[in-house]
Amino acid sequence: MTIRGIAYGGDYNPEQWPREVWAEDVALMQRAGVNLVTVGVFAWSRIQSGPGQFDLGWIDEVLDLLYDGGIRVDLATATASPPSWLVAAHPEMLPVRADGVRLGPGSRQHFCPSSPAYRAAALELVAVLADRYRDHPALELWHIGNEYGCHVPACHCEVSQTAFRAWLRARYGDDLAALNSAWGTDFWSQRITAWDEIRTPAAAPTFLNPTLQLDFARFSSGELLGCYRAERDVLAARSPGMPATTNLMTFFRPVDSWSFAPYMDVQSVDCYPDPADPAAHLTMAAAGDITRSLGGGQPWILMEQAPAAVNWRFVNVPKAPGQLRELSLTAVARGSDGILQFQWRASVAGAEKFHSGMVPHAGTDTRVFREVEALGRDLAALAPVAGTRVTADVAILLDWESWWALELEAHPSGYVWWVITFQHLYAALFDAHVTVDVAHPAADLSGYRLVIAPHIYLVSDAAAENLTTFVRSGGTALVTYFSGIVDPDDHVRPGSYPAPWKDLLGLHVEEHWPLAEGATDLLGGTLAGPSASASLWREQVHLHGAEPLLTFGSAPLAGSPAATRHAYGDGLAVYLATWPDRETLASLLAWTCERARVRPVLDAPAGVEAVRRGDVLFLINHTAEPTAVDLPEPGRDLLSGRSLSGRITLAPRDAVALVGVADVPADLVGTVHGDGPVAGAAGDLRRRIEDLPDGRRRTSYRRGLDRRP
Ligand code: GLA
Repeated sequence: MTIRGIAYGGDYNPEQWPREVWAEDVALMQRAGVNLVTVGVFAWSRIQSGPGQFDLGWIDEVLDLLYDGGIRVDLATATASPPSWLVAAHPEMLPVRADGVRLGPGSRQHFCPSSPAYRAAALELVAVLADRYRDHPALELWHIGNEYGCHVPACHCEVSQTAFRAWLRARYGDDLAALNSAWGTDFWSQRITAWDEIRTPAAAPTFLNPTLQLDFARFSSGELLGCYRAERDVLAARSPGMPATTNLMTFFRPVDSWSFAPYMDVQSVDCYPDPADPAAHLTMAAAGDITRSLGGGQPWILMEQAPAAVNWRFVNVPKAPGQLRELSLTAVARGSDGILQFQWRASVAGAEKFHSGMVPHAGTDTRVFREVEALGRDLAALAPVAGTRVTADVAILLDWESWWALELEAHPSGYVWWVITFQHLYAALFDAHVTVDVAHPAADLSGYRLVIAPHIYLVSDAAAENLTTFVRSGGTALVTYFSGIVDPDDHVRPGSYPAPWKDLLGLHVEEHWPLAEGATDLLGGTLAGPSASASLWREQVHLHGAEPLLTFGSAPLAGSPAATRHAYGDGLAVYLATWPDRETLASLLAWTCERARVRPVLDAPAGVEAVRRGDVLFLINHTAEPTAVDLPEPGRDLLSGRSLSGRITLAPRDAVALVGVADVPADLVGTVHGDGPVAGAAGDLRRRIEDLPDGRRRTSYRRGLDRRP
């Protein structure tokens, strides 16, 4: 992108406003420091009034106005809400739910992703837009579709039935025997004898075939990707060199974000934590870490967040004063180069008229607009971080295929949810000031010191071997219960659990023993405090090489392992066979991080976010109290322009972005002097002191690659 510094703005829907407002919009955008707006996301019916009838004059005008005002455009392909004339001509493009109900128009995203009529019309529109605007100087980025799968993640219409069968024929090499074997159709007499017998998994008397459901999840995510890629191909051919993205969603199970990532020139995400949720900042931080990881560490864009309230919860609490800034800074700290909101000006008509805008109904003499202006100034001050990266020593594994299979019904417990477990692990690491990436289980893990596998229930042979190799060559893995259970067909791997990781973990699991709803067990062992407890899950673990770190307290599992450690190759494998209380989980993670030589970014109180981006140390107080943090070295705060040293106190929701504070591992502060290698508890480090042209001194530490525990 050509924007220097952090992009700032939001969805801009001028089609909802008379022309007179457009000039005022540009003036207000300038006042607020806006430099990027997304135009036309839901403008298809204004752009095209019938077959071949395009009206682009108003977009020309809007783009010219914006450009003249110094504002760049993320131009939407406008394909997320087909116009009514198109639906009338092709009613078969309307999607059908699993219960057989065909969804009508009058809302949005009312299209079947496999519909040839929808795709042809969408691609024609994209071609027209690309030809018209590829050379417009305001164009910064193409915004394809909108939140793929948001309201309609899958379709069961007849077109989809045919497309699903074609997809299955390709997957199984036109071999019905292979499909029958993969789907285990001898169970409950489900044997398929002709391709035409196959239907998408819809309403049925009881549990549907799980592999049918898994394949349908793969197919449905793939069809949405197909829509995205088809548009992207048109843009690549007609608007070469212009980056393209789509706004994916935070923690959205139906769409495999890893499959989209390679086709996005810049990753972007929408994130709407509930402002009333005390963990709102964790949702934003995790969305950022995931989105950054999808792009291999490259800067990304927060494409949508609410300036204040949304309108789609039952009760819509606005962001508190300062919360827009707080969450935006979290996004920037975690690698975002763009902070955009939905939307610029609050609508006065339509289903979202009570959704906040950067310009509220009450106008500019408002709390929200003042905060919008202030955020513009803050983001301008953070220009030096644009383009810089965040690095992490820890990866949490995330695989949509495993997630789909994990949360199918009829499992030992209905309470094994990937997101919930991820959030607990993430929160503990966040409060310990450890930065994390997410990684696909089959990805190159060699750059990490610690890899956490939370409920990686479905695992391919290659991915299983990948984690094993990582540990063998010196890494540390933490594997949680209900991992390594099935193969990619969702068939239980033979033998005891977790079949592919028994040697790695030095144990096997004989029997799952989930705890009844609300029930708990006491935990003992070296890492257990006096009231350590377990809930949700237990299992009967037998050790062959591993040593217990935690043990269960009650019959029939009293004294048997609840968490274990096992030296494997040059590394260490930790297993967690239950869901421990928050403190015990924090102790286990602290113990594991120490063994893995993962160090906190800074020794700071829990609830104060500490993350490094490039040379800048961000500290953000997400607690409700003024909180003191000891700085290891003096630094200059980009946000306030002040030089800070020693003990600083951050007000609730306040933040600093410090330049000049070296990446000093917490356990080394004050113990080393001068250039050269540093040995000792922290391992091999090389210290480098540079005198910068502006008179500041920068100290940096490069860590050795030795990951042995
Ligand atoms: C989503 C959509 C937007 C808008 C917002 C409202 O993120 O992409 O068009 O509907 O929700 O929160």
